[in-house]
Amino acid sequence: LSSAPPLQLGEKYFQLYPEEADPIWGNPCDDPRHQKIWSRNKTCDQLPRFLVIGPQKTGTTALYTFLSIHPAISSNLPTPDTFEEIQFFNGKNYYRGLDWYMGFFPVAKNDSARYLFEKSATYFDGELVPRRSQALLPRAKLITILLSPARRAYSWYQHTRVHGDPVANNYTFHSVITASDTAPKPLRDLRNRCLNPGKYAQHLERWLSYYPPQQLHIIDGEQLRHNPVETLHELQRFLKITPAFNYSTHLRYDPKKGFFCQVTNEDHTKCLGKSKGRQYPPMEDRSYKLLQRYYLSHNTALVKLFKRLGSRTIPQWLKDDLTDTV
Ligand code: A3P
Repeated sequence: LSSAPPLQLGEKYFQLYPEEADPIWGNPCDDPRHQKIWSRNKTCDQLPRFLVIGPQKTGTTALYTFLSIHPAISSNLPTPDTFEEIQFFNGKNYYRGLDWYMGFFPVAKNDSARYLFEKSATYFDGELVPRRSQALLPRAKLITILLSPARRAYSWYQHTRVHGDPVANNYTFHSVITASDTAPKPLRDLRNRCLNPGKYAQHLERWLSYYPPQQLHIIDGEQLRHNPVETLHELQRFLKITPAFNYSTHLRYDPKKGFFCQVTNEDHTKCLGKSKGRQYPPMEDRSYKLLQRYYLSHNTALVKLFKRLGSRTIPQWLKDDLTDTV
């Protein structure tokens, strides 16, 4: 019996099974064969129990920060490149493998911080993300925050301007969102980053083709902004975290910031940095009207999705976005 050397053997294998060239990491602890050869120094407890999947500019940092106050919840450790976001399931980090990912989760010394989670706002609209995350974390709960896709697009545009993006600084928001497919690539890229994540129903359907609806929790971004205490209580109920942590003494509205912030002592609060909750001019009416029309079919599909998921209320921003669209 003879065999080709390993390298040739590998090449032959991937010629025969090209679809397997892109790895999908499963959970070693879910497979007895893997568990048998899994090093004794490794644990199965260093994986998140829930994911905050985004999308970007909906209040994900506020949610991440508020969750981190909770005594029973632990977030991932920060990364040097993307700060609080690991961004594992999308992009090139996925190829760094499971050990790299698990290294971001602290090993609990005692039972106090039982709920590990991570937040990567880019997960929401990543094509490959639901498939990859389901393979590794089939029982994870998914948390998404939605607010008017038009306002989200505008917030993203403002974000890129402040970050010195030359395209955002040379083109008005209106010219970005109306850029045609023959426009220069950097302009089309910015247009797409503004518009695509807001096609909420389409992205949620992809997640729901990998996860059962019972594992998905949708937060109204306006409610998170104006009533984070109630939002976090509802989230704790969904996550079945007991005893519930009373956020009302830990979050306070800061009139200077215009947002809820973490209470540090009787007179002081710690707000998110100036990159969150920015001051910028309101969106032009013609841009909002255009985006209402642009998102009409997506928002209509979202209402249907909310109903299918058994939601009793439709967010006010969704009703507003669907009003007077002619
Ligand atoms: P703006 O800066 O455009 O107002 P993300 O963290 O996902 O990037 O979202 C940023 C957005 O979170 C901010 O967008 C802001 O409106 C919203 N947000 C909600 N609650 C907040 C809070 N308590 N502090 C700061 N920003 C908050």
